[in-house]
Amino acid sequence: MKGIVFTEFLALVEDKFGLEVVDEIIEKSELKSQGIYTSVGTYDFSEMLSLLKYLSEYTELSVDDLLLVYSEHFFSVLAASYPDLIKKYTGPIEMLSSIENHIHVEVQKIYPDAELPTFEVIEKSENHLIMIYKSSRAMHYFGLGLMNKTFEHFNSTATIKMEKIKEDGTEVKFLITKNS
Ligand code: HEM
Repeated sequence: MKGIVFTEFLALVEDKFGLEVVDEIIEKSELKSQGIYTSVGTYDFSEMLSLLKYLSEYTELSVDDLLLVYSEHFFSVLAASYPDLIKKYTGPIEMLSSIENHIHVEVQKIYPDAELPTFEVIEKSENHLIMIYKSSRAMHYFGLGLMNKTFEHFNSTATIKMEKIKEDGTEVKFLITKNS
């Protein structure tokens, strides 16, 4: 997992809960990296799981809820860092259906070692999109938050339903309907 995912996560934890909580979750996690991340480095995904687990214990929020909140912050970071990737889209459905064939393709060029999910488009119309998310990291709540923010970016909202295809969340169907 790319360092930017860790650095932004810890920055948000510091902002919301303070530096003591950052130190506490790093210490409890006993990380190989010792919690020292650079945005371009690459680190074990297990370190993120461990940080999330201890933050979940501290906040009494589920890991899924934490991922949802974090992804909404992460979208702003992505939009500010890679404006050109978003600029070419005129609407959220267009943009979301292009993650697989454009956005994440470009991300992989920028970060060859990025570990990205796949999003297969099953159905697409003007106000409706069905996609299947697949990733060994089971970060579907992270995807949900990024999708919500994509709609917000275009001054729109959507009703998004997730249906697990695999119980562990490594395969999830997203049913997205743009609210008119
Ligand atoms: C992960 C970039 C838009 C879904 C990531 C990562 C980067 C990235 C750098 C981390 C990869 C790693 O740690 O190795 C971008 C950029 C975007 C964008 C630059 C737009 C400008 C989106 C959108 C979605 C999405 C709109 C909506 C569904 C995900 C998910 C992950 C991810 C779910 C977590 C990894 C996983 O599930 O396996 N993306 N992304 N991304 N991205 Fe994107």
